[in-house]
Amino acid sequence: MVQAWYMDDSAEDQRRPHRLDPDQPVTVQQLSELGVHSYKLDADNYESDPELAKIRKENNYTWMDIITIHKDTLPNYEQKLKIFYEEHLHLDDEIRYILEGSGYFDVRDKEERWIRIFMQKGDMITLPAGIYHRFTLDENNYVKAMRLFVGEPIWTPYNRPAENFDARTKYLQFLEQKA
Ligand code: LAC
Ligand code: NI
Repeated sequence: MVQAWYMDDSAEDQRRPHRLDPDQPVTVQQLSELGVHSYKLDADNYESDPELAKIRKENNYTWMDIITIHKDTLPNYEQKLKIFYEEHLHLDDEIRYILEGSGYFDVRDKEERWIRIFMQKGDMITLPAGIYHRFTLDENNYVKAMRLFVGEPIWTPYNRPAENFDARTKYLQFLEQKA
């Protein structure tokens, strides 16, 4: 199961784990109450994995590509990493599946606290449209991930504050109804 915890607010490197002391873990149940869902898949066989095919079919994830985030492979690496770590939302779900390496997705909980989700090989995650989040590499500085999308992808990030979007309103209503 995917590991997650509440973050400390120290100013040290974003690539560090930022666990609280004592650690305050977050369960998959807590994540799912935020509309965040995770799966564990067989990353060595992603090209022929029937489980992945099933998830894609059921959720209509028709589009996919594979992105490698490493200083030697990603054009404008430093600039992209900066953009990824700006708190933002999208008007569509963000779906990522880690094939190699690892990284952190941070999401806000209902009280605006940051939850850090440790994504390793085989972890797939879906972040709902309208949730504030960000991404960073960890200290291994490498991730290879599949990006999935319903139809033609739109990656536009809207940095916080981005309250005046339908996707945001709908997400807040979703949280409200879970409360
Ligand atoms: C994205 C991740 C980094 O928007 O949140 O691609
Ligand atoms: Ni994003």
